[in-house]
Amino acid sequence: MCRNFKSAALVMARKHVTMTVNGDEVDFLCEADQSLLSVLRDELEMTGTKEGCGTGDCGACSVTVDGRLICSCLILAVEAEGKSVETIEGMAEGDKLHPLQTKFLEHAALQCGVCTPGMLVAAKALLDKNPDPSETEVRYWLAGNLCRCTGYQSIVEAVLDAAAVMRRG
Ligand code: FES
Ligand code: FES
Repeated sequence: MCRNFKSAALVMARKHVTMTVNGDEVDFLCEADQSLLSVLRDELEMTGTKEGCGTGDCGACSVTVDGRLICSCLILAVEAEGKSVETIEGMAEGDKLHPLQTKFLEHAALQCGVCTPGMLVAAKALLDKNPDPSETEVRYWLAGNLCRCTGYQSIVEAVLDAAAVMRRG
C-alpha cells in the first residue's frame, strides 16, 4: 500500500506534455527538469538527435522548435508544450532523402556521424530562411555545430551544393 502510494506520487510528480514532433502529435510524461533532448531520446525513442556536450556547445542535439533552431539539451521538454518540434527523423520523406542528406553522402561530409544529424537540421534551418547562402554565411550559420572529423570543408560544399539543387527545384 505504502509502496503503491509512493509510485503513484512519483507518477503524479511527472509532467504531462503534448507537442508535435515531425508533424505527429505526441504526449508523454516527463520530469519537470528533463531536457527536450532526453525526452526525444529516452521517452520517445527518437535517437537520431545526438548528445555531444549536454551544455549547448556542440550543436549535436540541434532541432527546431516552431521553426527556430535550438539546442535541445538547453530547453526543458515542458517548455515545448504545444509547440512544433522538427528532428532529423522528419527530414527524409519516406525513402526519399532530403537534398541535404543526399549531398552529405555525395560529398562524404561525415565520418563518425555524431555531428551529422545536428549539422543537417541546422543546415536545413538555414536553407529554409536563406535559399542562396554564400560560403561565408554557411560557415557562420554552422559555427555552433562542431565536427571533430571532417575539417568542415566537405560539409560546407555539401550545403552549398544542396542549396543549388533545391533552387533548381
Ligand atoms: S549536446 Fe546540446 S549542444 Fe552539445
Ligand atoms: S563526422 Fe565525426 S564529429 Fe562530425
